[in-house]
Amino acid sequence: MSTLLQHPCSRPGRFGRAGTTCRIFHLSSSENSTATALALVAPDMAEVDRVIARRLDSGVPLVAEVARYIISAGGKRLRPVLLLLTCGALGYTGSQRHNLAAVVEFIHTATLLHDDVVDESTLRRGRPTANESFGNPASVLVGDFLYSRAFQMMVEAESMRVMQILADATNVIAEGEVLQLMNMHDASLDEEGYLRVIRSKTAKLFEASARLGAILAGSPAPIETACADYGQALGTAFQVIDDVLDYDGNASEMGKNLGDDLREGKATLPLILAMQRGNEAQRQTVREAIETGSVDKITEIANIVRDTGALEATRQAAAAEAQRAIDAAMRLPDNPHRAALVTLASQLLTRRT
Ligand code: IPE
Ligand code: IPE
Ligand code: MG
Ligand code: MG
Repeated sequence: MSTLLQHPCSRPGRFGRAGTTCRIFHLSSSENSTATALALVAPDMAEVDRVIARRLDSGVPLVAEVARYIISAGGKRLRPVLLLLTCGALGYTGSQRHNLAAVVEFIHTATLLHDDVVDESTLRRGRPTANESFGNPASVLVGDFLYSRAFQMMVEAESMRVMQILADATNVIAEGEVLQLMNMHDASLDEEGYLRVIRSKTAKLFEASARLGAILAGSPAPIETACADYGQALGTAFQVIDDVLDYDGNASEMGKNLGDDLREGKATLPLILAMQRGNEAQRQTVREAIETGSVDKITEIANIVRDTGALEATRQAAAAEAQRAIDAAMRLPDNPHRAALVTLASQLLTRRT
């Protein structure tokens, strides 16, 4: 069994330390603790928003229009939050934190512009996607603008390490998206293949965001590694939950359409586990849908995913990764920012948006 599926609660003797018990996953969704965690970086996030607004400037009106369209729709700004919380946990208070927080949000937004073209998605952040509103060419090209603007900005940090981390992350994300494209309509994809895609396309940027906090703070290698481990595990859990919500979410809460994964023939973890656990008829139904990309049986498939226990098992896989994130966070100095990182990892499991 892949480590992704070993729920940490089933591994004896691993959770004796205060603050790292599995109970953290059984808390009711406490929006207060998330709000408290985010309040720590609220003034910084306001500054990040100002940097973002300033750096969207372009002499080409369509560039600014499309970029502002997607950025002003909001989004959770999770990657900047992650970078700022790690900076806070490690004591870095310099101005590069705002610049690099904007950089990771630009890279993320560029991936979304491209991803929605590839996935033919029509709804993002509660609005028609940029490809729906402005067309595929404008989305792809403005995505390129955001990537390259991010590279202009990261140079300003005057740090070879910073550039190396971000150049590598961007490259791995692109590889992840291509890998996913190659896996499309492949019903034989296993957990390992799935994990490889999500570690690349999603977790890598979370990893880079957290690692940058440590680099900016000039932290020693073990602390930098703890941050990177935290980001990788958090990002993995985040994508696993995203894939759950495609079958068990609510489009108006998510701000994007459900069922896009099935329509794209993506063998995500809920489907992989449903095929492992289902009877022959259920397996066949799921396999056919992945192979054809037909969403005609989406309701039946959502029921199979639930009835076989695949949904719950997928949530448990996310819980295992979130626990791994919490374990990594516990290797950082004990302070309110670290507590916020722990809260983020535990609350992520009950997210609806
Ligand atoms: C969407 O990321 C893409 C995934 C990695 C699932 P987010 O859910 O962080 O998107 P926004 O920025 O909040 O819209
Ligand atoms: C995440 O994958 C995309 C990237 C990280 C680039 P998804 O395709 O699942 O993201 P959503 O669901 O469209 O936000
Ligand atoms: Mg998509
Ligand atoms: Mg998705």
